[in-house]
Amino acid sequence: MWIHRCLFALLQFLLVVRSTPTGFPSSGNGLWYNKTGVIWSREWLPVGNGYLAATTPGGTTQETVQLNIESLWSGGPFADPNYNGGNKQPSERDAMAGALRDIRQSVFQSPTGDIDNVTVLTTDAGQYGSYAGAGYLLSNLNSTGAVTKYGRYLDLDQATARTVWTQDGAVYQRTLFCSNPTRACTQHTNFTSSSSSTIKTLPALTYAFSSALEDGLPAPNVTCLNSNTLQVRGFIADPSMLYEFLVHASAPGGTVSCTAFPVAFGTPPNATIRVTGATKEAWITWVGDTNFDLDAGDEASGFSFRGPDPHDTLTSLLAKSTTPSTSFASILAEHIEDYQSVTTAPFALNLGQTALLDIPTDVLMQQYQIDAVGNSAGNLYIEWLLFNYGRYLLSSSARGVLPTNLQGKWANGIGNAWSADANINIQMNYWSADMTNLDVAKPMFDYLLKNWAPRGAYTAEVLYNITRGWVVHNEIFGHSGMKAFDGGNSAQWMIHVWDYFDYTNDVAWWKSTGWPLLKGVASFHLDNLVEDLHFNDSTLVAAPCNSPEQVPITFGCAHAQQIIWQLFNAVEKGFAASGDTDTKFLNDILVARGKLDRGIHIGSWGQLQEWKVDQDSPTDTHRHLSHLIGLFPGYAVASYDPTIQGPVAANGQEVTYTKQQVLDAAQTSLVHRGNGTGPDADSGWEKAWRAAAYAQLGDAKTFYHMLSRNFAANLFSEYDPFDSDPIFQIDANLAYPSAVMNALLQAPDVPTLDTPLTITLLPALPLQWPKGSIRGARVRGGIAVDLTWSGGKPTKAVFKVSDQAVPRKIQIVYAGKTLASLSTTPGLSKTITSF
Ligand SMILES: *[C@@H]1O[C@H](CO)[C@@H](O)[C@H](O)[C@H]1NC(C)=O
Ligand SMILES: *[C@@H]1O[C@H](CO)[C@@H](O)[C@H](O)[C@H]1NC(C)=O
Ligand SMILES: *[C@@H]1O[C@H](CO)[C@@H](O)[C@H](O)[C@H]1NC(C)=O
Ligand SMILES: *[C@@H]1O[C@H](CO)[C@@H](O)[C@H](O)[C@H]1NC(C)=O
Ligand SMILES: *[C@@H]1O[C@H](CO)[C@@H](O)[C@H](O)[C@H]1NC(C)=O
Ligand SMILES: *[C@@H]1O[C@H](CO)[C@@H](O)[C@H](O)[C@H]1NC(C)=O
Ligand SMILES: *[C@@H]1O[C@H](CO)[C@@H](O)[C@H](O)[C@H]1NC(C)=O
Ligand SMILES: *[C@@H]1O[C@H](CO)[C@@H](O)[C@H](O)[C@H]1NC(C)=O
Ligand SMILES: *[C@@H]1O[C@H](CO)[C@@H](O)[C@H](O)[C@H]1NC(C)=O
Repeated sequence: MWIHRCLFALLQFLLVVRSTPTGFPSSGNGLWYNKTGVIWSREWLPVGNGYLAATTPGGTTQETVQLNIESLWSGGPFADPNYNGGNKQPSERDAMAGALRDIRQSVFQSPTGDIDNVTVLTTDAGQYGSYAGAGYLLSNLNSTGAVTKYGRYLDLDQATARTVWTQDGAVYQRTLFCSNPTRACTQHTNFTSSSSSTIKTLPALTYAFSSALEDGLPAPNVTCLNSNTLQVRGFIADPSMLYEFLVHASAPGGTVSCTAFPVAFGTPPNATIRVTGATKEAWITWVGDTNFDLDAGDEASGFSFRGPDPHDTLTSLLAKSTTPSTSFASILAEHIEDYQSVTTAPFALNLGQTALLDIPTDVLMQQYQIDAVGNSAGNLYIEWLLFNYGRYLLSSSARGVLPTNLQGKWANGIGNAWSADANINIQMNYWSADMTNLDVAKPMFDYLLKNWAPRGAYTAEVLYNITRGWVVHNEIFGHSGMKAFDGGNSAQWMIHVWDYFDYTNDVAWWKSTGWPLLKGVASFHLDNLVEDLHFNDSTLVAAPCNSPEQVPITFGCAHAQQIIWQLFNAVEKGFAASGDTDTKFLNDILVARGKLDRGIHIGSWGQLQEWKVDQDSPTDTHRHLSHLIGLFPGYAVASYDPTIQGPVAANGQEVTYTKQQVLDAAQTSLVHRGNGTGPDADSGWEKAWRAAAYAQLGDAKTFYHMLSRNFAANLFSEYDPFDSDPIFQIDANLAYPSAVMNALLQAPDVPTLDTPLTITLLPALPLQWPKGSIRGARVRGGIAVDLTWSGGKPTKAVFKVSDQAVPRKIQIVYAGKTLASLSTTPGLSKTITSF
């Protein structure tokens, strides 16, 4: 009996160990499943290189890979020659200036400080368009027999998606990845079989392109470019943007042929590629692009955003990855080397997790939940995976020409929710980049400079009668006009611009890109601020303004005021390094900052006011934490300094709040804002923001609870987790690592370069994460941090100051105790082992 039990246990052990698919990373750093994906937003697995993206359900004899090209959008000037970014006409400029004056007057004179609408300033969204899916690539493998030993996985150590299965004595493996250095994606199929198997060569493979599966995509022309290359050319609509894919097949030892079907009258041409007799492997490599051109988004190009036909560039790009001597092993090795050098080599987190290799990821996710007070055991392994997945997704989508959008670069169908565009959510996409040493944000800044600034300058002029700087209200094709009222929120992007410099001290980048962006937006706000004629306290306020996606339309919104204050501080902090000699501009900024309402007012129920007029409702559980932007990711609240930010005019009196009073007010507001499960939006991103905000306040339990919802079987974050086909929104995935980091290591910004930076170790460590380590984290001031903890307490912390760093004063704090106060110098290293 005893022996039986032992044998049974051994057998179970063997079964358990063998349950992940062959090749799954032994580190456990991946997602795996024992069945094919069905619902795209819940079950398919994403790969991408920034330029291209693809999702796979993990099919066997039939595989359907869904494709994306980062710039494939409907709408814009491609669809409407009169498209002007949702702006007013030049002839309306005076009328707008008058209307704005009237609106300001109405706002200030209103007893409640607000007005119904600013309809007169807004324009119809027109051909705003949407980010769109680019079709499906079908692969048909003529293998026969029952499929057994099926498994599929996404390897986060190597950025590859794989499917493995057995059929008729042969073990098949299909691998999918997109390589950033080659800008190409590859799908490889191979097999191994025992000598007794009847399978001697790879069964015939047929590759085809389908537009029918991509909801709304018109059929393109699919033709044979040559005997081994399929060419797909189509328009996203008529008229609209052109896109092209070139799909090349390689089959060592076998034959590749491309066959065009006879063209029936009225149908676009179609063709397929067929591979037969390959010795052991065959693969396709595809490249794709559109005629969108980021460099054509300025006045000189007539804001056309139109570039040349992408065909020639694609041909030469493809030739580089498909020379006759290019082996699959070499393309794969190049891809893995690149991915790891950017993503996994510079940084690692360990939460003390044990990989749970015996349970598929979908089953783990079904069981995963944290009770409302953050008490339950949680699952270290899932939390570690979600963290790594966020960095994987950012790395795989940010390194193209355009920034990650609301779905990264992964979108299915030609019309996507909220157009998959870039407003506040996209800003969230990059929260984790600086702190986890993922240097992928530069394309985003280039995009702001080339896509937003030019038309934003036009908007500043026509809508605000402001002739310097720029403002935008939304995204691609330089949509800068005011849609529904959404305020002018370009200032919030500038937090990133400053942060990137603060983390890297990359002076060349600051001079060429960061400073011009910051100066442009600061110039606009300098001219757009007006004196508060409601309270007559001689402060400067934004008017009209609103909190994102919320009424009322009022003045002095905390969100705008806090950000503009931070923006003006960044101008002062970055002026010297910019090399700019415009000291008048600097002085104007400093004078305006002196008069600026800082957006920190404590209201009647102890809350941090969302607007300057105290009208917050304690039952408002709105998804946005607009007025808490200074708590996270900003610092106007988190680093509140009464000597700099006080006193505040309130009802004719001057009050000076203490930092604790301000933090308490922020906490009151945060608690009343609820847990982000409202019927209006049970979305992931609002939880990630709440989690980071609770971590900022040192509330580990609530931080931990907020992290646990809205993730599907493929770990995509969802808009409504209870929908059978939920909407995917990537912002919570990408914000997840930043929320976790904010619980482990905090160093919020400070208003001046002379103010000491406080680096707090383990400020909100949940009980569930008693031991762990971080390698390669970064904090501002050009400082890299390695941290180890055990028994819920730090055991070792190492700080290394980069060689380019500007000297700063820092304080290192743990559990309220200052462990060290020092001035950094370039190259300094400091190790702390006693806490
Ligand atoms: C897949 O895994 C689940 C959970 O371990 C198990 O219940 C199920 O039987 C497996 N399915 C197959 C086809 O192996
Ligand atoms: C627009 O701004 C200019 C310069 O400040 C000013 O002279 C002009 O009166 C403004 N136009 C209107 C219609 O307010
Ligand atoms: C906007 O407000 C103005 C002034 O109060 C009013 O006349 C107008 O009807 C309102 N428009 C809409 C669309 O609500
Ligand atoms: C598929 O393979 C079978 C043999 O297993 C063969 O008879 C058949 O012709 C093949 N079909 C195609 C489309 O290659
Ligand atoms: C081919 O597939 C087998 C599994 O059948 C795998 O072990 C092997 O490494 C693969 N070869 C290549 C070159 O990818
Ligand atoms: C082209 O042919 C393939 C294979 O028959 C088919 O699946 C696909 O839908 C066709 N494409 C178009 C655009 O009709
Ligand atoms: C598709 O082919 C037709 C002719 O068959 C041609 O008129 C059309 O311009 C082609 N479309 C694209 C996008 O190349
Ligand atoms: C969110 O808060 C509501 C109201 O307090 C509560 O009923 C619900 O259980 C909470 N849900 C989660 C997931 O925290
Ligand atoms: C502010 O000044 C305006 C006139 O400039 C006046 O109408 C208004 O009543 C004043 N408001 C307060 C609160 O004093």
